[in-house]
Amino acid sequence: MGSAIAANAVLAQSAMGQGGSGGAKIPTAVIGVGNRGSHLLRGVLEQANTKVVALCDIKPDRLDKAATSAAKDSPKTYSDWRKVIDRKDIEAVFVATPPNLHSEMAIAALQSGKHVYCEKPIGVTPRQVQDLVLAAQASDRVFVSGQQLRSYKQLNEAVAKIRAGVMGKIVMVKAQRHATADLPYDGSSGDWYYDVNKSGGYLVEQSVHNLDACNWVVGEHPKRVSGYGGMLMHPNEPVGRTIFDSGTLSYEYPSGVIMSFTQNVFHPRGMPGGGQPLMVFGTKGAVDFLYSTNFYPIGGDGKPTQLSPQVKEPTHAHITAFYDCITKGSPNPAGIMEGATGALTAIMGHMAMVKQGQVDWIDLGVNF
Ligand SMILES: NC(=O)c1ccc[n+]([C@@H]2O[C@H](COP(=O)([O-])OP(=O)(O)OC[C@H]3O[C@@H](n4cnc5c(N)ncnc54)[C@H](O)[C@@H]3O)[C@@H](O)[C@H]2O)c1
Repeated sequence: MGSAIAANAVLAQSAMGQGGSGGAKIPTAVIGVGNRGSHLLRGVLEQANTKVVALCDIKPDRLDKAATSAAKDSPKTYSDWRKVIDRKDIEAVFVATPPNLHSEMAIAALQSGKHVYCEKPIGVTPRQVQDLVLAAQASDRVFVSGQQLRSYKQLNEAVAKIRAGVMGKIVMVKAQRHATADLPYDGSSGDWYYDVNKSGGYLVEQSVHNLDACNWVVGEHPKRVSGYGGMLMHPNEPVGRTIFDSGTLSYEYPSGVIMSFTQNVFHPRGMPGGGQPLMVFGTKGAVDFLYSTNFYPIGGDGKPTQLSPQVKEPTHAHITAFYDCITKGSPNPAGIMEGATGALTAIMGHMAMVKQGQVDWIDLGVNF
């Protein structure tokens, strides 16, 4: 990603006077102002160097609510996202629509010269991901994927220590995403989430965060996966459901690291072993990565040392990082390749569960 950082430094110069030290604010649009989009909107409004000039959603009630919360910036509202892209004055676009729309919208925004913050997963098919990678690589604009764990200070420090060799060579990862229930069937995203063609499925829509964190720690993306999954607990609930509710996957990385991942939406509250632990095993010991960054040495007395202290992570650190990339040329915490490999790790896992067998990275047909 060295070239992306260099490109950002060039942008930093051109952005002076547009959110840089010159004081003018970066004209920003948010497309999709549902649950996540309205959270992102709050984050954009909190930045000192931004102005929300456009909001877009196909649901008028959401658009009204968002316009009210952004009233200080008097944004124009749209139901047609292409009209937002067509506006020449807009410099930054947030895409927070359902996952199957991300790639097309982000590509259009990049091609019209806008910086893009695109929610995860950046696509739900290998083709969508590949097309977006090509568009981002052809653009000199900033692209940030909404994998916000990558902006957590504590995790960044832990990864730096792991890279420096504190736990020796990584050989195995055990991770999971167990929820106590499905998302509400009549909730904010209920009209697309249960349709696998729109969300990509539970693994792609939700576990992409956890799988990306595994890739981050290991330092590469897997080369193959075997998986089994299904609608084991909630077949046809809600009616027409096409996403799985559970699955178990085994990934292998090019370096030989093996990773075991499970997902479900029926881990009873209070029963041990739930949640989203991510444990990394190395030749010198193991790290409880996501929860504590505690390191347990092999042969130790059971008392861990914490790799990096817990800090109160700023709620909108990832959004601040996006604007810092634009105005200061700061390193991108989750650029196109992090977004692409995270999404594809999940998509490959979903394909394996559908096949009830093995899928190789090479089967995805992407050229990276
Ligand atoms: N990074 C995170 O931690 C995080 C958390 C939650 C959701 N998300 C992601 O954010 C995205 C949105 O999720 P959500 O929970 O906010 O869903 P949501 O349904 O609440 O919001 C999506 C919004 O997009 C709008 N929309 C749909 N089609 C549109 C179109 N053609 N043009 C304009 N607007 C359109 C919908 O009307 C809706 O208001 C998903 O990709 C999800 O994975 C990320």
